[in-house]
This record gives sequence, structure tokens and C-alpha cells, in this order.
Amino acid sequence: RTFRIAAIPADGVGTEVVAAGRAVLDALAAGSSGRFAFDWTDFPWGCGYYEKTGRMMDEDGLEVLQDFDALYFGAVGWPSVPDHVSLWGLRLRICQNFDQWANVRPVHFHPGITSPLRKADDTPLDWVVVRENSEGEYAGLGGRNLAGRGPGNEVALQTSLFTEKGCERIMRFAFDLARERDRKKVSSVTKSNAQQHGMVLWDEVFERVAADYPDVETESVLVDAMSATFVLHPEDLSVVVASNLNADILSDLGSALAGSLGLAASANLNPDHRFPSMFEPVHGSAPDIAGRGLANPIGAIGSAALMLDHFGLEEEATRVRKALDATTGSGLLTPDVGGTATTDQVVAAVLDNL
Ligand code: NAI
Ligand code: MG
Repeated sequence: RTFRIAAIPADGVGTEVVAAGRAVLDALAAGSSGRFAFDWTDFPWGCGYYEKTGRMMDEDGLEVLQDFDALYFGAVGWPSVPDHVSLWGLRLRICQNFDQWANVRPVHFHPGITSPLRKADDTPLDWVVVRENSEGEYAGLGGRNLAGRGPGNEVALQTSLFTEKGCERIMRFAFDLARERDRKKVSSVTKSNAQQHGMVLWDEVFERVAADYPDVETESVLVDAMSATFVLHPEDLSVVVASNLNADILSDLGSALAGSLGLAASANLNPDHRFPSMFEPVHGSAPDIAGRGLANPIGAIGSAALMLDHFGLEEEATRVRKALDATTGSGLLTPDVGGTATTDQVVAAVLDNL
């Protein structure tokens, strides 16, 4: 079977790490004896495109993307364009219009990379943040310059949206995922003591859904306490389900604890399979290191492995993850995790280890 993939590297290190992931996928296809192939189409969208055209992506971009089996994304954002313009104009536009309501962000401690926790060397920690990806704090509701305020008195409103259906589907997704894992546990995260409307609804739905999964252990934790748990007792975690903003922050914390933002993979899934899903590293465009061949490609390659899972190529996905572990385990590391290797050297080692 041929899988059609849209590559959207976008900005900064996005281009470097998408090329890396693509090399790994192409090597797998080349060795598959024709069992599967990847047909790539490149899209030049991003901040450079915006500077030339005034648009982050083409007008009919969503229609064009609709027909692909998956989207492989780099990172969007560059200092020349305001971040809220670039993010909403490309990445969030795709996520929201393609109803990619489940964002899966594994936190995986690689061998050979020392965590600031220092537990990484002996304890192979592994948990997953499941992020509600369609509503919550990123619903885009609210406004500026609200009526009747003069200069110096502006009022802006940023409203969160929580729907019972939106909460329920992400929780069922988290519970189903927990059932596939060795540790069958879901931790639900809110700030429902302070945010007494939407997040209380979230808690109630969580309790109701949990009743359908008696074999799965559960807990409800406030986000401030959960950030402490990430640092102090990460071995207690298996699946962590949280709203858009809270999970965004927690997953960055998770990847930093694993050693670097450059390590973290993610999948923006439309579990209903009506629209293509999007696979991307968690990190941004890293303007501070862009264009120097120093980007850690592991997050992007891990995201390609999540894409393989999505295609039903689980065996290949496992091979890629093992090749990543073997590469870090051999001490071949980019500067963000304490090494001196370049992106290309890491990719070459991953290909060898495959
Ligand atoms: P960032 O993730 O780009 O960088 C944060 C730090 O992590 C930097 O020191 C960077 O060098 C390092 N880093 C990130 N990825 C790395 C990699 N692969 N290898 C080695 N080191 C890496 O976040 P920042 O600086 O807050 O944002 C930069 C731009 O990226 C902004 O325009 C922002 O809006 C955008 N952004 C886009 C995201 C996306 O497209 N999904 C996510 C986060 C930020
Ligand atoms: Mg983030």
C-alpha cells in the first residue's frame, strides 16, 4: 500500500527535522520489499510564505490536504511574524478544521540521556500526556477592545470552552489508551478548585467515564500538584489526560525532564478518521539554533513512528523506537542533550541501527 503524506516543514528547524524523519521513513519503505511505500508532497507554507504572499497557507490549503493519509509537520513561527498570527494561520487552522481533537504526547526517557531528574539512568520512565486538542483554553473565544473602555483601560477576554461531548471523547480516548499499556491508570488534570465552571464539568465527566473502565485505576489531580508529581514521582504516571493549555505545559515539562524539548514526539489525531491526522515534534522552530545542523531530530523521528502506528505499521514503529534508543544509548547526541553530534550524524546512526 502507498501512503500519501503531505510534508509541511514550515519554519526554522522544522525543515531540518522533517528531512530527518523523512529519511527514516523512506529507508523503511525501501527495505519493505514493496509491502508499503510513501508518496510525499511538499508544501512551502510558513512564515517565509507569509512574507511573500500575506498568507500562512494557501486559501484552498485545507481542501488540498484533505486527501492525504497523513500530514507530517515541522514547526511554525519566526521572529518576523507575530506568533499568534503564524500559529493560528497554519498549525491551529489545520488542527481545528481537521478536528484533530486528540493530541498524544509520549514522554519517553531514552537510554544514554541524563534527565535533570537523574532517575533516567536506571529507571526507564515512560508515560503519555493526552491533550484535549479542540476546545478548552485554545477555543479562540473572546476579544479585545471591549466596549466603553478608553486608552489605558483596555479589557480583553479570553474564554475557555468545555463541552460535555468534547470532554467525554478525550477521556474515552485516554482510557482506551491506558488499557493498551502495562500500567492501566489515567490521571485527570484540572484546576477545578479555581476554575469552577468548565473544569468542574470536566471532573464530572471524568467520573462518569471512569465508571465504564473499572479495570483502570484513576485519579483527579490539580495541575499545580501534577507539575510537582512530574518532577518528584513520574514513576506513578501512565496516561495523563488534560485540557489544551494544561497538557501543553505539562508535556513540555515532561520532555524537558526526559532531557530536551527536541526529544518529544506528538500526534494530532482525528480518531474518527474523517480527516487526516498530523504528526509533529512538540518543539517549536528554535530560531536560536536554526540552519546550523544542530537540531535534535529525535522528536521528529519519534513523531514519524507515531505516524507508522497510525498507518497500522506497528512493527516498523517499534523498530524505529528501538533504533532511536540504540542511537542515544551509544552516546551519539546533539548539543541540546550534551553531545557534539550534528542532525545528519544522528540520522545516519538511526539508519544504521534500523
Ligand atoms: P522552541 O521549542 O522553538 O525552543 C525552545 C528551546 O528548545 C530553544 O532553546 C531551542 O533551541 C530548543 N529546541 C527546540 N527544539 C529543539 C531541537 N529539535 N533540538 C535542539 N534544541 C531544540 O520554543 P520557542 O523558542 O518558545 O519558540 C520559537 C518559535 O516556535 C516561536 O515562533 C513559537 O511560536 C514557535 N512554536 C511552534 C510550535 C509548533 O509549531 N508546534 C510549538 C512551540 C513553539
Ligand atoms: Mg507547547
